[in-house]
Amino acid sequence: MTRVISVVSGKGGVGKTTVTSNIGVALSQQGEDVLIIDGNFSGANIAQHFGIGFQDVSLNDVLEGDAYITQAVAKHPAGVSLLPASILEFNANADSLKHSLIEFLGQKDYVLIDAAAGTDEEVQAAIEASDEVLLVAHPELPALTNCLGAKKLAEQLDREVLGLVLNSVRNEKSEVDREDIRELVEAEIIGMVPDHKHVREGIALRKPVVDYKPNSEASTALHDVAHRVRGEEPPKRGIKGKLQSKIEELSPF
Ligand SMILES: Nc1ncnc2c1ncn2[C@@H]1O[C@H](COP(=O)(O)OP(=O)(O)O)[C@@H](O)[C@H]1O
Ligand SMILES: [Mg+2]
Repeated sequence: MTRVISVVSGKGGVGKTTVTSNIGVALSQQGEDVLIIDGNFSGANIAQHFGIGFQDVSLNDVLEGDAYITQAVAKHPAGVSLLPASILEFNANADSLKHSLIEFLGQKDYVLIDAAAGTDEEVQAAIEASDEVLLVAHPELPALTNCLGAKKLAEQLDREVLGLVLNSVRNEKSEVDREDIRELVEAEIIGMVPDHKHVREGIALRKPVVDYKPNSEASTALHDVAHRVRGEEPPKRGIKGKLQSKIEELSPF
């Protein structure tokens, strides 16, 4: 059974696209067949995180009935299939999105949809096209309250909430306490991704960090989220794992 998961946050700039692309590659490294869809029609950027050029055929063409979905999909060396959208205003239509996906769905283990920010119709379309929702937020009040709005929307639409990924965690005093976050968002925290230059370096090099620095702290955290999404406990990493992460820490950009 294909699991269709939309990644939503409410607030923009908190790491939705970063988390989507990395969870996608992590799942694929864990042996799953993954398709990532840019559901952010008006501000598409999945393609940029992977360094793929603009396709001749985009998701928009598929939705408008001008192309087949297979024409728009690109296979990335990191193992995932990508379905980019062009950066054009698009009147999202959840029904046609779901319809276009059906042909492709059966072949994939996971379809991840990188949703837009906010809670407008574009986000709704992404949530409606999915069965489950993964929330992303910074451990800060503005991000968390917006995330709560997105979660309520997911619940109104009867979608299962998988949990909350806290991104760009610095373990600073200013961050909202983990227990308070759980109470506020009423969701399980299924991962904490550190704020780390490796993530930014990966974006600059157009290589998701789990591909660029697979043993780094950030990659380990993202892999742990992928394990939890798959319904399994992440493996315990002993001293060897810590050493590998230190080595990556020291290696030059
Ligand atoms: N874990 C992280 N550590 C360091 N920088 C990060 C991390 N996650 C995201 N960023 C930075 O935040 C920026 C915005 O992330 P992005 O995934 O594009 O957010 P969104 O899709 O929610 O708008 C990235 O370009 C990157 O510079
Ligand atoms: Mg984004």
